[in-house]
Amino acid sequence: MGRKVLVTGGTGYIGSHTVVELQSVGFEVVIIDDLSNSSADVVDHIEKISGIRPAFEAFNLLDTDRLDAFFEQYAGIEAIIHFAAFKAVGESVEQPLAYYRNNLVSLMNILDCMSKYKVPNLVFSSSCTVYGQPDQLPVTENTPKKEAESPYGNTKAISEEVLRDVVKVNPDFKVIALRYFNPIGAHPSSLIGELPRGVPNNLVPFITQTAAGIRQQLSVFGDDYDTPDGSCIRDYINVVDLAKAHVVAINRLINNANSERYEFFNVGTGNGASVLEVVNTFEKATGVKLNYKIVARRPGDIEKIYADTTIANTVLGWKAETSLSDTLLSAWNWEKRIRNIN
Ligand code: UFG
Repeated sequence: MGRKVLVTGGTGYIGSHTVVELQSVGFEVVIIDDLSNSSADVVDHIEKISGIRPAFEAFNLLDTDRLDAFFEQYAGIEAIIHFAAFKAVGESVEQPLAYYRNNLVSLMNILDCMSKYKVPNLVFSSSCTVYGQPDQLPVTENTPKKEAESPYGNTKAISEEVLRDVVKVNPDFKVIALRYFNPIGAHPSSLIGELPRGVPNNLVPFITQTAAGIRQQLSVFGDDYDTPDGSCIRDYINVVDLAKAHVVAINRLINNANSERYEFFNVGTGNGASVLEVVNTFEKATGVKLNYKIVARRPGDIEKIYADTTIANTVLGWKAETSLSDTLLSAWNWEKRIRNIN
């Protein structure tokens, strides 16, 4: 048996890819997910890829009785990767209390369990949203944080502060927060990927659904930004590369006795790509023409952001490997598989 890791949100988009990468290097994975934004089939697909069925318990992390029962049942967990959270920016503006309760209380419940059941290590899903629109690019880990643009973003900023303060008074705890840039793409097997409910908010699922004929037209939100082609710039990171960053982080927590007890890293490629570049790269990589139209800016969007990955590369020892073109092709292959397109 490998070392045991709990992955909350393990049937979700980034969680499922991380479970596969953990299993591939011998970790024994246990998943908790309430299936509020994913499906139990994902467990079957993980098993198809890795040949190993992860243990899976379906409940919400606000349920402290279930959490206690869980930790009594699964003794010997060495580390937790905490993905489970609400993540829709627009929805968080409509329902701030639901976001603060779910995202913050679940983290606090996890921290309580770490004390109670002696689990020393945590990897936390944070976001580049904590930087807002930075004054200087690329952003390093030391770029000052800006006031959050949405309640969702604020839950990530507050969570980081909670973690920093809790680690200070718990000498046994070690925590790494990973600040994700824009995760896209799917596993090369096309067995797991991103499955948004309803109309996608994010660019790449909207692109692949447009290519599949599910959406009529992609709206490009603004071409009058202060960027070379006028559309917004982001740092799009391949989801498998991102998943691997979690394995590196877990190994660092478990094996590196000298690392700081609370650390945070940018997880991006270091390259900015504009919306129009993503559209063009998708068309070239897949040979599919996209029906798109430039429309007004989307309220709340920042103009440009991309990561300085020096610290992630040198201190964490992780680097993104997959090209934007290959990543967009993987997203398309996934969309084709789930829609039965040849
Ligand atoms: N975009 C379009 N058309 C679409 C969807 C998106 O032009 O149909 C553009 C957006 O305007 C933006 C870019 O594509 O310029 C990326 O948009 P996404 O919605 O895919 O991603 P965001 O950068 O807005 O949001 C992501 C995560 C959030 C996180 C945020 C942090 O989805 O969870 O990064 O900056 F909060």
